Amino acid sequence: MQTVITLEQVRETAEAVRGYLKVTPRVAIILGSGLNTLAEAVQGARVVPYRELPHWPLSTVVGHSGQLVIGELEGCPVFVMQGRIHYYEGYPMSQVTLPVRVMQVLGIKTLIVTNAAGGINPDFVPGDVMLITDHINLIGMTGLNPLIGPNWDEFGPRFPDMSQAYDRELMNLAREAARGAGITLREGVYVGLSGPSFETPADLRFLRLAGADAVGMSTVPEVTVARHGGQRVLGLSGISNKANLDGSTITTHEEVMAAGRVITPKMETIIRGVLQRLHD
Ligand code: HPA
Repeated sequence: MQTVITLEQVRETAEAVRGYLKVTPRVAIILGSGLNTLAEAVQGARVVPYRELPHWPLSTVVGHSGQLVIGELEGCPVFVMQGRIHYYEGYPMSQVTLPVRVMQVLGIKTLIVTNAAGGINPDFVPGDVMLITDHINLIGMTGLNPLIGPNWDEFGPRFPDMSQAYDRELMNLAREAARGAGITLREGVYVGLSGPSFETPADLRFLRLAGADAVGMSTVPEVTVARHGGQRVLGLSGISNKANLDGSTITTHEEVMAAGRVITPKMETIIRGVLQRLHD
């Protein structure tokens, strides 16, 4: 039985983070695989290695550094997670999503999640950025929902609404930001699996039939907890590889990391554009 994080522990972590804050960050940004260099754009950065924070899970994946970068982007106080934790690393869901609870205790109302994903939609090519308009919580449907267990009423209701998991206003800001910079922004549905093995061709055909445009191993648990706690969410997927529905090619982690180098500047431009346009 995996240990479950308690509310007391969440508060302890939040207290530790608070010690590094000068102001309450307005926006939290979680950086996905291969997208870590985005944190280098943060000005006046205060860097906090995850290992200095009690209960914070440590990322074990190549391409995920493990630190918080607290500072400003486009004049907006931001809290950037350079390196995220995935369920497949062996942490319980409550620990995978502990950072999101900490954001909520700190009063951060807006979350931008990024990830690397396989493109299932045949129109998508590696290097594309996809605005996540909705997700399929396949990992949750099969029993791994981070909200399983006693409900934390102080954050949100037992049965939280997920009809607008991704905030419409933030989606519009991302569209405007991309358009303004001449970046093609794809749109679609992200399906979250546990990983770490990549999908079989039959898995991928099934996911396509189910309506997914992109597939990955993160994001959905964090967004579920974010919505439970009343945060508004913007999700962006970097399409790092074409999902291989006919079994003719293989997907590698190296490929995912390499695509990140093409995707990062686009993501940075879109995120900067959103922050410039953010009013509340
Ligand atoms: N499948 C699952 N997760 C991923 C992929 C993929 O093809 N690419 C990047 N993350």
